[in-house]
Amino acid sequence: MSTAPTERKKNTILSIQKKKDNHLPISMLTAYDASSAALTDAAGVDMILVGDSLGMVMLGYETTLPVTMEDILLHCRSVARTASTALLVGDLPFMSYQVSKEQAVQNAGRLLQEGGMDAVKLEGGRPRAESIRAIVESGIPVMGHLGLTPQSVHQLGGFRLQGSNAAAARQLLKDALLLESCGCFSIVLEMVPEQVARLVSSRLRIPTIGIGAGAGCDGQVLVYHDLLGLFNRPKLKFVKKYLDLYPLIQQALQAYIKDVQTGQFPAPENTSSMSEDEWLEFLKSLDE
Ligand code: KIV
Repeated sequence: MSTAPTERKKNTILSIQKKKDNHLPISMLTAYDASSAALTDAAGVDMILVGDSLGMVMLGYETTLPVTMEDILLHCRSVARTASTALLVGDLPFMSYQVSKEQAVQNAGRLLQEGGMDAVKLEGGRPRAESIRAIVESGIPVMGHLGLTPQSVHQLGGFRLQGSNAAAARQLLKDALLLESCGCFSIVLEMVPEQVARLVSSRLRIPTIGIGAGAGCDGQVLVYHDLLGLFNRPKLKFVKKYLDLYPLIQQALQAYIKDVQTGQFPAPENTSSMSEDEWLEFLKSLDE
């Protein structure tokens, strides 16, 4: 039986860790605005990620690279206004944490202070270790992100599977252990072979959250628009569409347009009228 939102307790990094300790799978979804946050939170998701994927699904960019701190902050604030129980994780956008550890701490702080987030996520392994330590030391929970790291899409040569040979898998495990030792409270594993993700998850104390990384992770994340089928494009292999909303929304929008064109909308039940007395008085006043 699902619990009403008001009866559920706010998730924290401790409750997320407890789930891994008790072998309970963790659910995470992206949300980008007040309505998607209200829906995902009411459904009972453990964590909401305001991902920089918003650059692609909300802002229409080809990659996540053009997303700015101001873009992310606007969406974080919208999400924070309507989500009450999920742990809120804000994504640090490209070039908001790579320049120096001081820059990383400052921008991570902005996501909590101005964006209302509970934690931040950033991409990368060893080169990010010093910044992750500094952010954690300033009291901000950090989620790491390994495997396919979309902010490095040009360096990786495209959106493709990572850690798929023995050397790359070893490096991935080393990076994951390093991020744990730097204080990350969890790590996203994106587009990684399932055996590798399972082994990494079993070697870490902290939870892994997989996307395209198989069932051996401690939790899963999907992009809201992918799960609901909001786009008219072929589904990626690792996505499961729980609804195919695109054709349904098209039907509804076309029905509205037709109703307007044929005078079916607004109907009497969508219309308000003045009382007859007031109407007559109004008409009379026009002649005065
Ligand atoms: O930005 C995002 O939505 C993400 C998830 C896919 C993990 O990073």
